[in-house]
Amino acid sequence: MRARRPLTVLAASLAASSLLLGACSSPTTIDDVGAGGDTTEVEVYTWWASGSEKAGLDALVKVFEEQNPETKFVNGAIAGGAGSAAKELLQSRLQVNDPPDTFQAHAGAELSDYITAGQLEDVSYLYDRFGLRDAFPQSLIDRLTVEGRIYSVPSNIHRANVVWANPDVIEDAGLDADATYDDLDAWFDALEKVKKSGATPLAIATTWTQVQLFETVLLADLGPDGYTALWEGGVDWAGPEVTEALEDFETLMSYTNTDRDGLDWGDATQMVIDGKAAFNVMGDWAEAAFQEAGASAPDDYLYFPVPGTDGVFDFLADSFTLPVGARHLGGTEAWLGTISSLDGQIAFNRAKGSIPARHDVPPTDFAPYQQAAMESFGQDVIVSSLAHGAAAPTATVNAITDAVSKFTSGASDLETFQADLVAANAD
Ligand code: GAL
Repeated sequence: MRARRPLTVLAASLAASSLLLGACSSPTTIDDVGAGGDTTEVEVYTWWASGSEKAGLDALVKVFEEQNPETKFVNGAIAGGAGSAAKELLQSRLQVNDPPDTFQAHAGAELSDYITAGQLEDVSYLYDRFGLRDAFPQSLIDRLTVEGRIYSVPSNIHRANVVWANPDVIEDAGLDADATYDDLDAWFDALEKVKKSGATPLAIATTWTQVQLFETVLLADLGPDGYTALWEGGVDWAGPEVTEALEDFETLMSYTNTDRDGLDWGDATQMVIDGKAAFNVMGDWAEAAFQEAGASAPDDYLYFPVPGTDGVFDFLADSFTLPVGARHLGGTEAWLGTISSLDGQIAFNRAKGSIPARHDVPPTDFAPYQQAAMESFGQDVIVSSLAHGAAAPTATVNAITDAVSKFTSGASDLETFQADLVAANAD
């Protein structure tokens, strides 16, 4: 990193964060569900359909095919970052009892939606079969658990509150590329200078990326405790701290590219890679895009926590499920075996920019960014991502997304935006 500090640190543990989903009772065993089943194929449903995300999936499939030569991998990926199209289509398949053999779901509140709807089988028996109870942090298992049953297997952990930056664009604006920004106000000064230089200060894309930016502003302004309290009812959405965060969000949005709504995350990150924009706030799947472009930090790109969020790890984890009614149980079990294996987690996460969910993977197998992220995950305060299903149920995320979209498209003012957010969080 161009003399940029690593993504550091405040002590805490994932266990201290919100949304621990359940208490323990006796786990389901393999006999409850029945072992075996059709191993001929497995349809794997994700939104990792192109670019660096597909490269990550491909790396995983390679290990899968080595470990399970008898099982055909069927790629059910649906394009659209953050599952913007995949999640809705998945619902329509689940409604008509046509589930894929396994689908991607975020640990936390989003997973609990599927569990409450009775759409997932308990996969505790696979934790026993594959020896996973000690492989993952207990606090992560807690987020995948309801009433003693575990409903998915995690493949990785991503961090959402990261700024990616182009040092040349920053220097061309007369700024020090190694400068750090203690808070949003300090960053606004830099964004203003980039704007005067003619480059795009802050690259952004379609609505879900704006929601992700919004969550990091809430985090910066309310702090990790206040941010977490937003989802637990301890902070008033109508209150002045939220108003201040909305004002900061409005300021940040004023520095973004106006063609944003037609872009997906990869386009916005590409603007930084190509030297068209100085900064992009994006989860660390962006690291994979920089790697794929052959860029190396700190000469070609920089990364640091969103100003005001240093010491906080805005967490999300992808995990894979066994849907009720899946047709190829043996194929699903094989997939869940590969994604949880040491080889699967190393291959996938090296290509995906994320860090392994397993805690027995040597950091030295990973790029400097990921080593820094692993260190942060071990030491930072952990909070749950809103845009990526960890913090709030899907209905709330959707209502907040509508409110953000209405505001950023100019269809509401700050006051209405806040009223919409109050309504979105009313239940
Ligand atoms: C997240 C997902 C990541 C990445 C990102 C962008 O929701 O957890 O793995 O795919 O969306 O599409």
